[in-house]
Formats: sequence, structure tokens, C-alpha cells
Amino acid sequence: MPCLPKNGPREYNTAVTQAATESEIPVLTDLALLVDADLAVRIEQLDLPENLLDALRYACLSGGKRLRPVLTLLSCKALGGSLETAFPAAAALEMIHCFSLVHDDLPALDDDDMRRGRPALHIHSTEAMAILTGDIMISIAFEIIGQSDLPDTQRSLLTFELAHATTAMITGQVYDTIGGFGSEISESDRLALIHRNKTGALLRGACRLGAICGKADSEQLGALTDFGETIGLMFQIVDDLLDVTQSSEHIGKATGKDQSAGKLTFPGLFGIDASRQKILTLQTHALESIKPLGPPAAPLGELCNYLAIRTR
Ligand code: IPE
Ligand code: IPE
Ligand code: MG
Ligand code: MG
Ligand code: MG
Repeated sequence: MPCLPKNGPREYNTAVTQAATESEIPVLTDLALLVDADLAVRIEQLDLPENLLDALRYACLSGGKRLRPVLTLLSCKALGGSLETAFPAAAALEMIHCFSLVHDDLPALDDDDMRRGRPALHIHSTEAMAILTGDIMISIAFEIIGQSDLPDTQRSLLTFELAHATTAMITGQVYDTIGGFGSEISESDRLALIHRNKTGALLRGACRLGAICGKADSEQLGALTDFGETIGLMFQIVDDLLDVTQSSEHIGKATGKDQSAGKLTFPGLFGIDASRQKILTLQTHALESIKPLGPPAAPLGELCNYLAIRTR
């Protein structure tokens, strides 16, 4: 069962309401509310110093879209599994995502002051606290999976899947921030490597975690993996587009920075029109990939359609 709080902290409620009104699609809104509530209770149960707990609340309960955990829940449901089974994996994955955002904003990485419409954690607190809060979110994520009451086999599959996705995400951040490609790799292959790892890995992982919770057979796992990889790439292309087309007030984080920071992006390399065309192609492929799962996968398709047109 998700850990639903009776009365969450006020800050959390405000953030959730904001996220809910802005996400525009009922399936994302409703499940995001449950994920928020579940995460809030998990954090309150931690036995940690108050300053660290405050930083964790700030980083995790701050109005994110909750896309990745919702994908985990919907992937499990698409296979006839219960939402309850997938909550620990969903919460653990969102912890990893929140860690990635805290570290992504640090001065040594993207050096961004704003996240989710408010000061990034290292601005709100200190750089040391942001580094250490990010660190602890990784271990807490694995504690959440470890203490879930799922059967041992599922728990070990989930542990591997989450670790694998996290490793790839961090590798992608290295490519994106520092480089390290072989000299023979073309720019478009570099771009694909960055996006597949830094963003695609957690979205792919989201669907695969849900598939494991829903006891997928190999065909179902294949379909959800294909779906996750495809929307993973699509998601980052949309993010790159938002950087050049939206205001920071609208999306709650810095915009117009990728080019000046020398980032390799889809619009930067291929232009805005080609990026929009690519999004359309990926959307079509993603919808096709989950067809074999039938009507229970319809909410995943709905979410995919929203992600292709989101403006924040
Ligand atoms: C932002 O992810 C980081 C990227 C991978 C582009 P989201 O856009 O899902 O961020 P939140 O969780 O909604 O704030
Ligand atoms: C971040 O990509 C991917 C992560 C692993 C966090 P970006 O650097 O483009 O994400 P935003 O735009 O800051 O959210
Ligand atoms: Mg970045
Ligand atoms: Mg960034
Ligand atoms: Mg970005």
C-alpha cells in the first residue's frame, strides 16, 4: 500500500496542488498526488538530523511532475498488476530522479539557481548540503526497495534495474557535462548517447520497474522497454525545445542556457522544425510499441501523447 499521509506538511500540499493543476492530464495528476503523498510519508519516517530531513523534503516534495513514478505505476497496471505492488519502486525511482536534479543544478554541473519554480537546493541551503542530500537519496532509494515486502526474486530484479538505470543516468551526465566520447563518434551519435543515458535510462527504467512489479513475460517486458526508450528520447528532445521556446517563469527552471553552455541538443544540432518532426515520429513509434498490451495500456498512450505536447 502507498503510505498516504492524513495531513501532509503545508509546503507539500501547496506544491502538489500546483503540480496537479499544471499537469493537464487526469491520469498523471491523480497518480502524481498519490506519489507525492507516498514520498512525503516515507521521508517523515526517516531517522535523520533535522537539517538533512529539511533538505530532503525540499528536494523531493517540491512539485515535480512525477512522470517517472507514474510510468512505473501505469506499466505495472498495464499488465494487470496492482498499483500497491509498484509504489516502492515508484518512490525509489523518483528519489533517484530528484537526486539527479539536485546534482544537475550544482555550480560544477549546470550551475542553475532555479528548480521547480524555486531556488535550487544549493541556493536554498548550501552546496555541501546539496551534494550530501543528493548522495543520501541514492542510498534511501535502495533502502525503499530493500524494505518492501515484495518476494525476494522481484526485489532483486528491481534492485538491479534501478542500479542499472542510475549508472546509465550518471554516465549520461558525464557525457553531457565533461565529455569522454571516442574521437570517431559523430555529433549526432554523441547526442544520441547523451540523451539515451542522461534521461532515457530513467524513463526506460521506470517502465521496466513497473513491468517487473507486474510480473511481465518477455514479450511484455520487450514492449514496455521499447516504449520507455522511445519516450525517454522524446522527453529530452521536448526538454531541449522548451529551453529555447519557453520562459523560465513558465517552466520553473532556467531557459535559453543550453546553447551558451555549449550543450549538444536536438534543436541546436538539427533545428526546431526537425526536432518537432522527430518528436512526432517517436510518439508514433511509442504508441505502436504498446499496442500488443491492449486496452490496459491505454493510459500509457495517453501519457505519451501529453509528453509530446507538454509545455513545461
Ligand atoms: C527534468 O525532468 C530533467 C530532465 C531529464 C529533462 P522533469 O521535467 O521530469 O522534472 P520534474 O520532476 O517534473 O521537475
Ligand atoms: C538533465 O538534463 C538530465 C538529468 C539527469 C538531471 P538537463 O540538464 O537538460 O535538465 P534540466 O533542463 O536542467 O531540467
Ligand atoms: Mg544537465
Ligand atoms: Mg540542467
Ligand atoms: Mg534541459
